[in-house]
Amino acid sequence: MTATESPVEAGERNEHGYATFRLGGFTFSRDEHFAHVEWPTGRHLLSIEAFLKALMRDVAWNFFYGIVNFDSVIGTMNHYGNVDLFAGRYNDAYRKAELDHQENFDHEQIMATFKAMLADWTNDGFDPFAAPQETGSPFGEKRGDNLAAVTRTRVTAQRMVGVPGDEPLRSDDTGHPVNRMFADVPQDEPTVEAEPGYEGEVAAFNLFAYLSRSDVTWNPSVVSVCKDSLYCPTTEEFILPIIHGNDRVEWFVQLSDEIHWEVEDRETGAPRAKVVMKAGDVAAMPADIRHQGYSPKRAMLLVWENGSAALPDLIAEGKAPKTAVEF
Ligand code: PHB
Ligand code: FE
Repeated sequence: MTATESPVEAGERNEHGYATFRLGGFTFSRDEHFAHVEWPTGRHLLSIEAFLKALMRDVAWNFFYGIVNFDSVIGTMNHYGNVDLFAGRYNDAYRKAELDHQENFDHEQIMATFKAMLADWTNDGFDPFAAPQETGSPFGEKRGDNLAAVTRTRVTAQRMVGVPGDEPLRSDDTGHPVNRMFADVPQDEPTVEAEPGYEGEVAAFNLFAYLSRSDVTWNPSVVSVCKDSLYCPTTEEFILPIIHGNDRVEWFVQLSDEIHWEVEDRETGAPRAKVVMKAGDVAAMPADIRHQGYSPKRAMLLVWENGSAALPDLIAEGKAPKTAVEF
């Protein structure tokens, strides 16, 4: 591909050494502390740390399910093939003042720009997936890069982790030591006694041991797939870097420790609930909310997704419920 055919519109480098990026009417630039976003009816800035952590998830999760709010103003809505980039669209005050703006982009175009921005703006030593105490600083003038960290994608099993041919389990051998916060998690594996002939079909593994070796935070990995049922456990420390606007019901099973969820209306951001989940608690988050989690200590969480592509339309048309249970 020649430079003129490149889907990425990257401008000149500024005095801090960073490239500026354009997507339709949106312009993104960064300085030592902030990401600046401009659009035809407004402008906004957010901490570069928060911005890079959110951008990392949006890229690695392929725009995820529904809405990825970077904060209360900026974000993306996934239409699975094309993606809305918005400012103020899900913010009641921006909507009332008619200052909100959104544009729709082909998936490849917005993905290419987001990847280029993430690569250019992430300095050497900063890993947007790491817990605050396990990474360096994102701030300051441009200082190298961290391509190995920012090109990481989520681990996805085709059936179940540990089944022959699938992703290797996390172990000392695969370069995944037990995390400092999970030093007390037993590492023994279950014994499997399969009937002769079924040795390759039956598998079991210690999920707690597996998760104790995760070196990233707020990054669900798909460890089992059964039709549309996806088990996506993850380890969480500090704050979920996005405010996720659901387009389907999503189940949370708190496997260890404690996470506090701020739950808001998906359209307006009006507060709806605070949910404190302790080990063993189960919650079904409705399809019309957005939520952000706070984890005081590294915690294990099972996110259970229904991956059916039909769900967003069924819910929008009122043919599937917005909540798991109607009382
Ligand atoms: C969510 O938005 O539901 C979500 C995302 C990432 C996590 C946990 C939950 O690590
Ligand atoms: Fe969610």
